[in-house]
Amino acid sequence: MSMRFQADLGQLSTFGFQKTVIYESIVTTLNSDCTSNAAPMGITLQDEKHLTLTIFNTSKTLQNLKTNPYAVINFTCDIELFYKTVFKKTLFTGNLPLEWFVPAEYVAAKKLQAAEVALEVTVIDSKPLNDEKTLVICRIEHLTSSPIGVSQLYSRAFALTLEALINATRIETYHTNSQKQAQTNKLAEQIFDYAQIVERVAPNSIYTTVMVEMQKQIALWRQPQ
Ligand SMILES: Cc1cc2nc3c(=O)[nH]c(=O)nc-3n(C[C@H](O)[C@H](O)[C@H](O)COP(=O)(O)O)c2cc1C
Repeated sequence: MSMRFQADLGQLSTFGFQKTVIYESIVTTLNSDCTSNAAPMGITLQDEKHLTLTIFNTSKTLQNLKTNPYAVINFTCDIELFYKTVFKKTLFTGNLPLEWFVPAEYVAAKKLQAAEVALEVTVIDSKPLNDEKTLVICRIEHLTSSPIGVSQLYSRAFALTLEALINATRIETYHTNSQKQAQTNKLAEQIFDYAQIVERVAPNSIYTTVMVEMQKQIALWRQPQ
């Protein structure tokens, strides 16, 4: 399915996007020699037409966007692609494999062949956040989805909340066993750490609500009888 993007948050939400949640994507940009670069980056939807990225100043992606303000935000569940785009300098000599990329339809950049959902974007503004990072604001020009659609938009909040729930099931079993207090404490500490990250990557979301409720329940279990 390929659709010209209409300004409608409803359409994005059918793909699972929620505002405030950071989704992990692979951002493709054009290098100065017209080859393509790809790097994992988190994106946040601001409204029906805009999304933001927070990009390290040292990255090739930011450098590319300064000279050619177009990109494709590719969503894929292929973890090997995340690995290979992080370790590209050691895994590939020169450019990334050409067969990974296909032309975008509305912007001067290429998208990943493997993308389940791709958002073609134009950079409309950028603001330095500190010495290390720049906030990049993009307008969404076009959305494409593979025929099978998207199986999952990846958010760290989902994985961490699920991990916390698994810890909770162990705490439920262990908390009455005096031999298991050290393990129970460790599991509760991990949940606390996960909750901090979830607060950062998905504020005011269903994930933060679940984290808070879960911790209340665990505190009740662990109350001295
Ligand atoms: C899942 C994931 C998400 C990431 N998110 C960001 C991000 O939002 N901003 C950023 O600057 N780097 C992010 N990184 C790190 C960059 O992908 C990494 O520094 C990469 O090497 C940059 O490549 P480039 O120099 O080709 O742009 C992320 C890495 C991973 C694995």
